[in-house]
Amino acid sequence: MFSGFLFLSALSFCIFSPDRLCVTRAQRSPMAAMATGVNISFQENHVVVNNGIVQITFSNPEGHITGIQYKGIDNLLEIMNDEPNRGYWDVVWSPPGSAGTKGTLERLAGTSCEVIVQTEDQVELSFSRTWDSSHQGKLVPLKIDKRYILLRGSSGFYTYAIYEHLEEWPSFNLDNTRIAFKLRKDKFHYMAMSDDRQRYMPLPDDRLPGRGEELAYPEAVLLVDPVEPEFKGQVDDKYQYACELKDLRVHGWICTDLAVGFWQITPSNEFRVGGPIKPELNSHVGPTTLAVFASTHYGGSDLVIKFSEGESWKKVFGPIFIYLNTVLDEEDPLTLWDDAKTQMSIEVDRWPYDFPASSDFQYAEQRGVVSGRLLVQDRFFSSDDCISANGAYIGLAPPGEAGSWQRESKKYQFWTEADEEGYFSIPNIITGEYNLYGWVPGFIGDYINSTIINITSGVNIDLGDLIYEPPRDGPTLWEIGFPDRSAAEFYIPDPDPIYANDFLINDPNRFRQYGLWDRYSDLYPDEDLVYTIGESDYTNDFFFAHVLRKTSNATYDKTTWTIKFNLIVNESQTYILRLALASAHQSDLQVRINDINKDPIFSTGKIGGDNAIARHGIHGVYWLFNIKIPGIYFYTCGENFIYLTQANNQSRFQGVMYDYIRLEALPTSIVNKI
Ligand SMILES: *[C@@H]1O[C@H](CO)[C@@H](O)[C@H](O)[C@H]1NC(C)=O
Ligand SMILES: *[C@@H]1O[C@H](CO)[C@@H](O)[C@H](O)[C@H]1NC(C)=O
Ligand SMILES: *[C@@H]1O[C@H](CO)[C@@H](O)[C@H](O)[C@H]1NC(C)=O
Ligand SMILES: *[C@@H]1O[C@H](CO)[C@@H](O)[C@H](O)[C@H]1NC(C)=O
Ligand SMILES: *[C@@H]1O[C@H](CO)[C@@H](O)[C@H](O)[C@H]1NC(C)=O
Ligand SMILES: *[C@@H]1O[C@H](CO)[C@@H](O)[C@H](O)[C@H]1NC(C)=O
Repeated sequence: MFSGFLFLSALSFCIFSPDRLCVTRAQRSPMAAMATGVNISFQENHVVVNNGIVQITFSNPEGHITGIQYKGIDNLLEIMNDEPNRGYWDVVWSPPGSAGTKGTLERLAGTSCEVIVQTEDQVELSFSRTWDSSHQGKLVPLKIDKRYILLRGSSGFYTYAIYEHLEEWPSFNLDNTRIAFKLRKDKFHYMAMSDDRQRYMPLPDDRLPGRGEELAYPEAVLLVDPVEPEFKGQVDDKYQYACELKDLRVHGWICTDLAVGFWQITPSNEFRVGGPIKPELNSHVGPTTLAVFASTHYGGSDLVIKFSEGESWKKVFGPIFIYLNTVLDEEDPLTLWDDAKTQMSIEVDRWPYDFPASSDFQYAEQRGVVSGRLLVQDRFFSSDDCISANGAYIGLAPPGEAGSWQRESKKYQFWTEADEEGYFSIPNIITGEYNLYGWVPGFIGDYINSTIINITSGVNIDLGDLIYEPPRDGPTLWEIGFPDRSAAEFYIPDPDPIYANDFLINDPNRFRQYGLWDRYSDLYPDEDLVYTIGESDYTNDFFFAHVLRKTSNATYDKTTWTIKFNLIVNESQTYILRLALASAHQSDLQVRINDINKDPIFSTGKIGGDNAIARHGIHGVYWLFNIKIPGIYFYTCGENFIYLTQANNQSRFQGVMYDYIRLEALPTSIVNKI
């Protein structure tokens, strides 16, 4: 099946490596056995792979995906775009020490193509390039090896890439890396990323001047004259479709007239950064489908991957699966979403795949397992000694401080959720050294077990019972909210009708409406929020984000929220205020007691850059502040006031989201110990 002529014509670009021919480990399901074998053909400047179900064309040697042929559609990718702008890997990078999260966008182009595996069951192609000093300042100082795999009988293809930084190469910042697919806008009109967010979408043309009006930032556009009138008056903003990584396993588009689905399936989060609840972009108007492997979205510059000189680094991103599906005649094309979810489960069950040929990708038997049970000991919460860490998030991440996984971006992380009794098992961990981290909904703070866990091939480590003692020094005097790293339980207003999108009108997506930040100014035009313990209800009286107030002159005033409470105070006693934040953006949160004009007793200093308020998030990065307040700061009896001021107001989107606030009184017996 492999034509000698084609082989020779390809030699100028492609090196065939017969020693790796036998590497294939493709599953031989009965269906796959009946299916046509996979073949490759080399054309001028292109390589084409075909398994009788799907045919994929790559530019050679760049390795961009220029064509995907499926079910009689010659190309699912946007044929109006130039070839390098259809399906491609890219990075955003910047010189070392750059501030912020912006940089140079570089589409990663290979300079050589290699056939890594070629059998009837599997083809794996590599498009790679290296780096040398002649590329200084022009190309990201990384060795890039992009891989594509087509299996016999498979309705789609896999892609992954290996990035490597050598010790002798210059330092730099990596801000973002992803693979992007631009689908045909004349075909793909229906988008889905979850059961409750899927819909017919506006066209990219609707965002252009005349049809769309840019709102507070370029990503958000009000559709004033869209091609399809049904979208008139809606806001289009890709951030309204962001998903937490743990829920971001499958997303994509449906072409309804020919009943074809294009899906991006991510079977593991091990190579993504920032932990399991980091929100990330996925599909949006274009029609565009992204697999974002690393980004600063909802995290800010803390998540920029910073490489120093002398640092050697290598990481495998992926594989991910691009899945194509169709329905039998008469079936509703929208059921393709259900089929895509089924395929996602199949891919998750097959993880880690046994067919990628790069020795940098570890197979199941090379990996390890960690299990155990997490219990919580909080003696002022429950009279029992310990309670089960029901639904705890538990993960292995590189060794660091408690909570460091939120900003960790260079290595791999492995997360799971504990069952009702706190039992957890984390399979398929890549070899290396880790700490065990976690947090428990219902409790503040971060769990860490600082004993290094050394994963070697085939280990199965049972850690037994582990105990998390959340920060706690005394009984709760009062509390606001539920500690789960999200502001979703607080008051989320209706959007301004001018910006309301019907598909986001109800829970759990209400917080994704555009412009909620300015609703605070409508609700509190003159005086700020006052929350009275014992009377107020946080679901109605506690705005979900502590934002600035828009004034008539379109400036943004600082705002001070007041918590009012009755307390009988022992002046020689100490109190603790627990301030847990679900997000912060260039904020300085100051705490004052009873006198708003005095210097704050506590200030966070300038913190955060997760931009979750502008990006319609309900959380970004988590912060916990434990503030000791000597009793003499309070009035000894009657009404007391805690003032919370967000004191930075250079720009509109500065602010914080609270996760939870609690006041504790230290028992007099332990006061002397702290
Ligand atoms: C590759 O496979 C496809 C589908 O089976 C077939 O149509 C095509 O002729 C084959 N090409 C080569 C070069 O073998
Ligand atoms: C972890 O295991 C590897 C392989 O056995 C070994 O080389 C390394 O020293 C171990 N690290 C620790 C901290 O025990
Ligand atoms: C941390 O884990 C080790 C096992 O790796 C266990 O012996 C130890 O008790 C744990 N520590 C805590 C504080 O849970
Ligand atoms: C609005 O801004 C202008 C110029 O900065 C200033 O002269 C005017 O007093 C401001 N008006 C109000 C109501 O603050
Ligand atoms: C910041 O807030 C102060 C007082 O709240 C106000 O006078 C000032 O104009 C605001 N600055 C901006 C840039 O909005
Ligand atoms: C107040 O606190 C002090 C020091 O902790 C303690 O000795 C004293 O008994 C407390 N007074 C009351 C009335 O609880």
